[in-house]
Amino acid sequence: MKRVLFVTGTDTGVGKTTVSVALLAAWAKTGRVVRPLKPIETGMTDHTEGSDAARLAAAVGLRENDTMLWRFALPAAPESAAMAEGKRIDLGQLIAAIQQLPGENLLIEGAGGLLVPVAPGVVMADLAQALGARLLIVGRTQLGTINHTLLTLAESQRRGLPVCALILNRLGEAVGPQEADTAARIAAHGGVGPLGPFPFSRQQDPATLAALAAQHLPIDALFERAFLP
Ligand SMILES: Nc1ncnc2c1ncn2[C@@H]1O[C@H](COP(=O)(O)OP(=O)(O)O)[C@@H](O)[C@H]1O
Ligand SMILES: [Mg+2]
Repeated sequence: MKRVLFVTGTDTGVGKTTVSVALLAAWAKTGRVVRPLKPIETGMTDHTEGSDAARLAAAVGLRENDTMLWRFALPAAPESAAMAEGKRIDLGQLIAAIQQLPGENLLIEGAGGLLVPVAPGVVMADLAQALGARLLIVGRTQLGTINHTLLTLAESQRRGLPVCALILNRLGEAVGPQEADTAARIAAHGGVGPLGPFPFSRQQDPATLAALAAQHLPIDALFERAFLP
């Protein structure tokens, strides 16, 4: 079995890829080998640039082809996007393909959040569970994040999915007045203290993100919590 860190979000567009690139590049800089994968990516046509798979690959010097498996054109939940092409994602096939990848430590970016439909009767959390993964939850810092984060933590706990870390990410420059207390409320009501926040950065290249990760996140402890037995 691989050791899998499964990156999920409290929503889509919260910074799963950005935080993943930051951690991957920071770990690579300190000689730690983690292979990224975006197993299912939707909204992908032949002309789409800047895919998640490409961003993850660039963080560790791989090629986009190394970090992708299934792709669909419709920008929708994987089950819907597959259905639109007359296909159905097979969880067993997906797991088998993942187990065949080289390397021991994998960082897998899900699509959207834990309950995003993948196939009939299958949601993203089932993929994480089938892989025996530890979860990295990424949430935004903005107003509304406490509810989304607590819902994600509650579902992780209900399924017995171990939460390795929860990272809040700044998607904008503005810092709201509610932010000062957000982490404390999430810790008190959800039992997991958020790390970060990961700062807003106009520069999104791996080197800049790696430096920010080293500055704002406990990258050594995160690696150990993610991948050590
Ligand atoms: N900390 C940040 N600073 C600046 N821009 C960010 C930050 N985090 C995310 N973004 C931008 O917000 C958008 C969504 O982030 P992304 O990492 O792709 O989210 P997800 O993978 O959860 O869908 C992207 O355009 C990304 O570059
Ligand atoms: Mg992404």
